[in-house]
This record gives sequence, structure tokens and C-alpha cells, in this order.
Amino acid sequence: MKVLVINGPNINMLGIREKDIYGSLNYKTLCETLNKKANKLKVDLTIYQSNIEGEIIDTIQNAYEKYDGIIINPAAYTHYSIAIYDALKAVNIPTVEVHISNVNAREEFRKTSVTAPACIGQISGFGIESYILALTGLLNNLSSR
Ligand code: DQA
Repeated sequence: MKVLVINGPNINMLGIREKDIYGSLNYKTLCETLNKKANKLKVDLTIYQSNIEGEIIDTIQNAYEKYDGIIINPAAYTHYSIAIYDALKAVNIPTVEVHISNVNAREEFRKTSVTAPACIGQISGFGIESYILALTGLLNNLSSR
């Protein structure tokens, strides 16, 4: 299985930004943790991060016919990027949306995800464990097709 992890703006600031919300583990540790889990599960994992909406869209488009699944944390773009929603719909690759924090227990504007309707599911609120849950959920979904 080939899985692409896409992280949106400011996810590279983990361990620095709002530690009370996002925890103290840094982005490198997130990537290492995910790569370890992927190795155990024998998944071919690619991890990508960008602060730029167009680059995220290019990355989704380039995944077409190359990846079996996508895990995406669109970060703030979750709440307003119709263009990322359209890109996910266009490539039609099974995708799980991930959030480190519990977006439903925060500000009102975070309760709306315009990207989640293009995904098979959403996981929110489990810290970096959200990504592990997304990976196992995605693999189960893919292998039951
Ligand atoms: C986030 C939640 C978003 O609302 C926020 O803009 C982020 C991170 C999360 O992982 O909890 O940057 O996607």
C-alpha cells in the first residue's frame, strides 16, 4: 500500500506553537513516529508539508494513480479551502482527514470542515496519535474494498 500524508500550514511548527493545544512533540518526532508505524505495517509512506495552498493542491493532483490512500491535515485550510476539497474530489483517492486538536471543542469557526466531505472519515483530538488512528483506519478501509 502506498499512502501519502499531507500536512498543511503551521504543522511544521509543532512543539513550538500553542503547546497547550498541540502538545510539545515537534514535527520531526511526528514524522519519525509515523514512519516507524508505517514500517511495522509494511506501508510505503510519504510525508509532505506545505504552508502554501497551491502546493498542497499540486501534491494532491500528483498523487493521482500513484497512491492508494491519503491522510491529510489541511490545518487552517480545513475551514475554508474549497480548492483542496475540489482537488480531493478530483483525484478520488480514499482520504482520511486528521486533526491533532479536538476541533469540535474549540472556536466556532473550527467546527466547520469544508474538506471532510471529500474524505472517507475524520479523526480529531488525539494529539499525534490521530495520525496513527487515521493510518490504521485507512488501511482497514482499503483492504476491505
Ligand atoms: C488543526 C486544527 C486547525 O483548526 C488549525 O488551524 C491547525 C491545526 C489540528 O491539527 O488540530 O492548524 O488542523
